[in-house]
Amino acid sequence: MASPLNGRLRVPSDKSLSHRVALFSAMAEGTSNFLNLLDSLDVRSTLAAIEVLGAKVELDEDNDKNGLCGRITGWGSTGPKLSDSERLGSDDPAETIGSGNKLQCGNSGTTARLLLGVLGGYDITVTLEGDDSLSRRPMSRVTDPLSLMGANFEPSAHLPIKVIGCKELTAITYESLVASAQVKSAILLAGINANGITTVSEPHKSRDHTELMLPAFGAKLEVYENQVSIEGGQQLKACDCSVPADPSSAAFLLVSAAMIPGSEILVEDVLLNPTRGGFLLVMQRMGVDIAVNENPDASIGAEVCGDITVKYNERLVATTVEAHEIASLIDEIPILALLAATAKGETVFKQVSELRVKESDRLLAIINGLKALGIEAWTNDDDLHIVGGEIQPCAQVFETHGDHRLAMTWSIASRAFDLNLNIADIECVAVSYPGFFADLIRLS
Ligand code: S3P
Repeated sequence: MASPLNGRLRVPSDKSLSHRVALFSAMAEGTSNFLNLLDSLDVRSTLAAIEVLGAKVELDEDNDKNGLCGRITGWGSTGPKLSDSERLGSDDPAETIGSGNKLQCGNSGTTARLLLGVLGGYDITVTLEGDDSLSRRPMSRVTDPLSLMGANFEPSAHLPIKVIGCKELTAITYESLVASAQVKSAILLAGINANGITTVSEPHKSRDHTELMLPAFGAKLEVYENQVSIEGGQQLKACDCSVPADPSSAAFLLVSAAMIPGSEILVEDVLLNPTRGGFLLVMQRMGVDIAVNENPDASIGAEVCGDITVKYNERLVATTVEAHEIASLIDEIPILALLAATAKGETVFKQVSELRVKESDRLLAIINGLKALGIEAWTNDDDLHIVGGEIQPCAQVFETHGDHRLAMTWSIASRAFDLNLNIADIECVAVSYPGFFADLIRLS
């Protein structure tokens, strides 16, 4: 039997917030100080890109090793300018990120899609590139609305994409067909530089960090249910920021504690934004012994934070996760699917086609991985069905397709059920949670 997890820790800082702190600081006039920015491959892609575009990024030593701290001086009203020619020949790893008017977004969809929105509104021509996974992911969901505003993209469906920005963007009213914070944010960031009021609505509310953080950088916007409007012609101003711990990273440890007999863990200072908290509600419905304590002292700006405790409980039951809940737990579905594999009954995640266009085809990967663990799982009309049962692996090697959240999910399966699985490309956890294995050992 697996040994229990016990103790308390802070997982690394939130990835979505860290990207936004970096991008908004780069757009702002003045110098923004930041604390606890996530130090992961994805956030490094954003930092390197804004540096090549002319923002000054200064990173200080962080003795706590709890993320990155330092300053970003934005390009402000001057706008972004490619600075790669001055940078050739340096030993700084950021130098390899941009050359010949190219920006390398690596594996990071948030870097690519938000940058398309930012750059679309400036007089600049630059090509965004990504790794193999990112180059397969759909970009038209962002380039279509941005083209309506007047930006140009060649081609427009997949990276690499040459952005030919336009200083005279026209505001649009846009109804997004997907609940995607990346789409919403790209349109709003272009809207800051457009003439008129840009409005974006979505079928279900996606994470609202852009709407909550832009006012701290001095921008005015209006939110009404699933719709956000922003007036063009606003200049962002520097803002000091600190980033709380990432609920999506915490979810892996919390689900492990729920599955391993004798476990009880506490994760500190976690972002408790309701548009990210769907996984906590689903865990509660499944019978997980979970306590969430908001901590006003830890809360940052408009974002609420607190501690989450989970204790093992052997009687977990299946649940149905409705379509309107999916956006609030989209990144947690792989690890919730593993939890469902241990619960009594059939769990259904409704309308999860978005999983097909994440860092890998997560829908297929979840089904194949669960089947390899001896669990019945299938899709029907974009719904994911999982019947809880006994974990009995019929394979030793688990594919991750270089997808960080799959690597962590199958690693937790291996740890929780003492399976000694061989997990491919395991180092890809560094995209969001470089210290994942060290933290698992700390709690062991
Ligand atoms: C993110 C939005 C989500 C999420 C991703 C981060 C963001 O993507 O899956 O990990 O920071 O805006 P979608 O906008 O594609 O749903």
